[in-house]
Amino acid sequence: MKHMKITCRFILTVTVFGLFTAGNIQAQNARIKIDVDRSIGEVNKNIYGNFVEHLGRCVYGGIYDPGNPLSDENGIRLDVLDAVKGLSIPLTRYPGGNFVSNYHWKDGVGPKNERPSRMELAWARLETNQFGTNEFVDYARRMGTEPYFAVNLGTGTIEEAQQWVEYCNVKEGPYYAELRKKHGYTAPHNIKYWSLGNEMDGFWQMGHLNAEDYSKKAREAAKLMRLTDPNIKLVAAGASNFRPDNDPHKWNATILAELRDVVDYIALHMYVGNHQDNYYNFVSSPLVLEERTKVVKGMIDREMEKANRGNRDPIYIAWDEYNIWYRWRQEETMTGERALEERYNLEDALVIGGFLNAFIRNADIVKMANMAQLVNVIAPVFAEKDGMFLQTIYYPLQLFANNMFGTSLNVYVDCDTYDTDEFYLGPAEQATRQKDVPYLDVSAAYNNGEVVIAVINRHKDKAITTDLISQEGLFDGDFEIYEVNGPDIKAENDFGKTSVKTEKKQSVKVKKAEMFTYAFPAHSLTMLKGKIAK
Ligand code: AHR
Repeated sequence: MKHMKITCRFILTVTVFGLFTAGNIQAQNARIKIDVDRSIGEVNKNIYGNFVEHLGRCVYGGIYDPGNPLSDENGIRLDVLDAVKGLSIPLTRYPGGNFVSNYHWKDGVGPKNERPSRMELAWARLETNQFGTNEFVDYARRMGTEPYFAVNLGTGTIEEAQQWVEYCNVKEGPYYAELRKKHGYTAPHNIKYWSLGNEMDGFWQMGHLNAEDYSKKAREAAKLMRLTDPNIKLVAAGASNFRPDNDPHKWNATILAELRDVVDYIALHMYVGNHQDNYYNFVSSPLVLEERTKVVKGMIDREMEKANRGNRDPIYIAWDEYNIWYRWRQEETMTGERALEERYNLEDALVIGGFLNAFIRNADIVKMANMAQLVNVIAPVFAEKDGMFLQTIYYPLQLFANNMFGTSLNVYVDCDTYDTDEFYLGPAEQATRQKDVPYLDVSAAYNNGEVVIAVINRHKDKAITTDLISQEGLFDGDFEIYEVNGPDIKAENDFGKTSVKTEKKQSVKVKKAEMFTYAFPAHSLTMLKGKIAK
């Protein structure tokens, strides 16, 4: 790995107290320039979404655990519900994932004692169907989140997809709307977001299709679903197979060309891991997500020129699965009751911060993102029968989801950089190498006179002293500072032990200043929140 040397220069600074220090020879401060006129796009709250799949202990033993003293009379784990509420999740995808490609929604509605148990083939469990559409909608309402459903385009039919929309969204009259009413739900659920299958480009997907066949099936499913409810938003399954022997761009280009008039989003997925135990490679991996975003944006732009979409918005990107997932990828930890129970550390939290920064920096095109998944399974919340704790990755998501809104800003960052070695994100992924990775990874948004700045200091050992400069208007008033950090990059949380968390630091007082200086600690995510008076 190559690091760029810190240089020296003659500086003139105004400190947070408005004093001038001039003429000292010292190490050059890094610089972050904020210009509230340089907007990228509106931050869509749906980028703080999440995902619940029938996988391992996400549903059963996670959000739903009937008979547990910590659950209510409906079987909902109240401690878990309380924890997930802290993430202010706007939108939650359900019920899969790979699970959905052999899921038949009718199995999961109606009297519980009449629901069939099925072999669950994606993750090798027994699916009892005791939790289904209505239980999830009830849960989502309690969480304060909007449900986002994925239909089965693997072993499922387009007719089945249509009937699910009818069951959920049609007020009364036809058979499935009346069935919902019979099941105790008089008002329709009004599910707005629907994805057309999951990872249909993957050979692992049950009912996997090639791009042409997927496009045909998705188009026809979309037709029936929209005839049932014209107000729904549809998400196409974009490429998820980044193995060296596959061309993911071909899949995306084909489905975008075929579905450009039909869908509202293209879904992309990404999981990364620190396979080589190389911190600097790993914390640069969100930059790969950013590259993939830009490539797909280019494809969308090309198709939008030819599309016939009436007055509908252009197609946007939904990163509807993203996370860190590499420790529990052995055969024995990939399936069964305790599948994918990844435990996270501080470097993982910094990578999540990097993903969120990347979503903000691409706010014009990324309008949805869903951390995969909510509880126990590669999740921010981890529960056992007698308690739960918040994993390290909970904290960056909580910080962003409760603060980072408004217009995303194109921020200028000047700091030292490093080059990574060649590395891969997953065991079967194409290799990558990142050049000139800035130690400071920054995003910012401006909202009604308030600016929110998120800064990750990727440096493992050094604080980075930085001048924050406002180019349009003056920083003014107290800047609130929140920091996600821990004793070292491998620090983990556990039951009764919170090593990594968000701390509210002492605010920085700024009086109508063009600039203030802040030292971002090593291996940290800092969020600064204050006013810019124009
Ligand atoms: O989130 C875990 C799995 O990862 C999902 O089921 C699938 O869509 C992806 O491969």
